[in-house]
Amino acid sequence: MLLNKAFRALLPIVALAAPAFAAFGITTSGSSWTVDTAGGLVFTINSSNGDITSMKFNGIEAQDSSKFSQISSGLGSASCTNTRTGNNNNYIIIACQTSTLTQYYVAQYKTPAIHMATYTTAEPSVGELRFIARLSRATLPTGPTAATIYGNSGAIEGSDVFMVNGQTRSKFYSSKRFIDDQVHGVTGSGIGAYMIIPGVGYESSSGGPFFRDIDFQGGDQSELYFFQNSGHVQTESYRQGLHGPYALWFTTGSAPSADFDTTFWEALNPSGLTTFANRGYVRGTASGIPSAFSDKIVIGWANSAAQYWVKASSSGAFTSPKMKPGTYTQTLYKNELAVGTTTVTVSTGTTVTANIADTHADDSTSYIWQIGDFDGTPAGFKNADKIETMHPSDTRMGGWAGIAYTVGSSAVSSFPMALFKDVGPVTVNFSLSSSQTGARTLKIATTLAFAGGRPTVTVNGWSSSTPPAPSQPDSRGVTRGTWRGNNNEYTYAIPSGTLVAGSNTLTIYVASGSSGSDYLSPNFIFDALALY
Ligand SMILES: *[C@@H]1O[C@H](CO)[C@@H](O)[C@H](O)[C@H]1NC(C)=O
Ligand SMILES: *[C@@H]1O[C@H](CO)[C@@H](O)[C@H](O)[C@H]1NC(C)=O
Repeated sequence: MLLNKAFRALLPIVALAAPAFAAFGITTSGSSWTVDTAGGLVFTINSSNGDITSMKFNGIEAQDSSKFSQISSGLGSASCTNTRTGNNNNYIIIACQTSTLTQYYVAQYKTPAIHMATYTTAEPSVGELRFIARLSRATLPTGPTAATIYGNSGAIEGSDVFMVNGQTRSKFYSSKRFIDDQVHGVTGSGIGAYMIIPGVGYESSSGGPFFRDIDFQGGDQSELYFFQNSGHVQTESYRQGLHGPYALWFTTGSAPSADFDTTFWEALNPSGLTTFANRGYVRGTASGIPSAFSDKIVIGWANSAAQYWVKASSSGAFTSPKMKPGTYTQTLYKNELAVGTTTVTVSTGTTVTANIADTHADDSTSYIWQIGDFDGTPAGFKNADKIETMHPSDTRMGGWAGIAYTVGSSAVSSFPMALFKDVGPVTVNFSLSSSQTGARTLKIATTLAFAGGRPTVTVNGWSSSTPPAPSQPDSRGVTRGTWRGNNNEYTYAIPSGTLVAGSNTLTIYVASGSSGSDYLSPNFIFDALALY
């Protein structure tokens, strides 16, 4: 009876699986290895260099025919192996190896995806690590408009910011914060191709939860990226090891979920993989974050081998992702501003508790006035809502020059998110009562600077000294759609006798020993400023 029931239950599976299973496999023709996933996707790897040379989804060729898809700028030459393995032999793993890098491609039975992981022991000589899918513009034309440069009338900055129909466009304007970027893709008629970075896929990347990098460029090819690391406003050293796992996933158009099971990788045994059984968790509660930021509480962990993050609940409760064993700096972020740190050691198979508190002075100081929130972002300021997808010169932005702000009556959205040395200063008028005069402190917080830019001020004719040049990434930033660098705070001791009862004028300038024109002149990005 039992046998009979089991047998009947098996029947439909066998009947369905047998013909389709026959299609799952790999065929070789010279150096071309063609894998049929039996899930609608058939792809070809060049086993001499590891390039993907074809990806056909439901018969539609997604791969560009002149430039192929590859890790870095291609491996040049690589030694590739292919193995059918895993649970029920339902996986084909192709590993293409050089002396410092192994690129893994995995086909999973009946899954329209190329699962990938990249193992590195050294930074590629080009100085950045990225997977680039060079897809066919004919079949997959549609990605983020701000990064679509096809038909441009030429570069307006470097070789990466272009003008299209009067709008500034750049691949950098496709970037999203890592913490928000699990799935990004391109679409065409009856087809969508999506890069998915699930779970702990960023653990060997660099820059933390708010780092952002290129996702897309729409040119002669539709380029879809996963940047594992780069010097694009990078604030950390590069990590090596296993990057990912990640996946290039095909659909008939709509975005797939990032929540697919990656545990099958453990049976495939790629170099550098730490199994989930060999990981541990951190659990705890973050306290002291002002309620206005209760939906923007983030906990991050970092050491030289790995980085992780998680959004805490509005009450501050958090549980980390599955982390590699080791000792980490645990950081509490109020939005993008680090407001507390502690050290925590994670051990295999255990959960350690590590609570963390907001120890930042801004959340306990009372200010005479404040412009913006001290949260590590220029959110709310003029052009802050546009800077991620436009160049500062874009005519869709509001002007940057000659801004005078009056405390108490000007809208915060009229205060500029950035100050450029060549564009000129910003003026802040404010009124004080006699009890608010005397020796006071002005604080200006910034999130990023370019070419050594930092604030100097005059108040009613008194001039501050010039602070030292900040430590910031040596990279264009605000013109590439990001404010995310090293957060810095500057304080200015305004001497007694400077401030007066009634009307006062503060002027903020960019100081730097360097020079430059317009938006490539020394600059910095405002987080917030306050007088106390
Ligand atoms: C495969 O790669 C080798 C080495 O780079 C190259 O010479 C060959 O043309 C490639 N084959 C295809 C089909 O692209
Ligand atoms: C700010 O103060 C300066 C100097 O007192 C004055 O010239 C300017 O008109 C004021 N601007 C505003 C917007 O109040």
